[in-house]
Amino acid sequence: MSAQPSTTTSVPRHIAIIMDGNGRWAKERGLPRTEGHRIGAQSVEEIVEACGELGVEFLTLYAFSSENWKRPKREVDTLMKLLEHFLKSKTPKMMKQNVRLQAIGRLHDLPQSCQDRLHKSIEQTSQNTGLTLILALSYGGREEIIDGIKSLVESVEKGHLDSGMINGDVFSKHLYTRYYPDPDLMIRTSGEMRLSNFLLWQLSYAEFYITEVLWPDFRKPQLIEAIRVYAERERRFGGV
Ligand code: FPP
Repeated sequence: MSAQPSTTTSVPRHIAIIMDGNGRWAKERGLPRTEGHRIGAQSVEEIVEACGELGVEFLTLYAFSSENWKRPKREVDTLMKLLEHFLKSKTPKMMKQNVRLQAIGRLHDLPQSCQDRLHKSIEQTSQNTGLTLILALSYGGREEIIDGIKSLVESVEKGHLDSGMINGDVFSKHLYTRYYPDPDLMIRTSGEMRLSNFLLWQLSYAEFYITEVLWPDFRKPQLIEAIRVYAERERRFGGV
């Protein structure tokens, strides 16, 4: 599949989201951070449903970064349990909504039970033809680029690829995201103006939409507003 983002400016074909602000949302309410993640999972559910309804084809969610392993063990464990529970309890809904689940990242870093559940849900939903939901898990953009370079070098060494043929399109085929088009729109909640190692290669031409809204409060109306702002922008891919 082409790595170029779509050129239509109505509903983006691929939306990528940095779901930030769960901790702050909880802190504002005097709740433990994990409560922010729990309500954040409800936002995930609502946004997946809304994307399906709006005709978005791909949704990539930054659910756990390679840096997130540095958080306190209790928080990491809670996030892994939450993910496993989400996959188990929401796969029937994904089936009903025709959602195809995929995942990117160093998935072998995840606890075994989480990996097993993830692969079960991916397998179960693999024939669905609606929204493709891509969870970025133990994901880092630099790590992905390094893994891509290793894969390219291996192809050259095995004689499957002539090094003179390497270009952007060829490299894209060695990334975790090789089956998906590049995102058209990147949304980040909670106001930070950073990429945080998310889809470094793939976001080259994406429109960015940063909102102060914290992830647990980011629901369908906020998504529609992001898409409205996106649709108003003219996208020229460096042309005139
Ligand atoms: C950032 O908030 C969020 C995360 C590190 C994890 C995202 C996880 C979820 C939304 C819930 C589970 C996911 C799925 C797919 C079911 P933060 O903790 O960095 O917030 P802060 O910056 O306010 O501290």
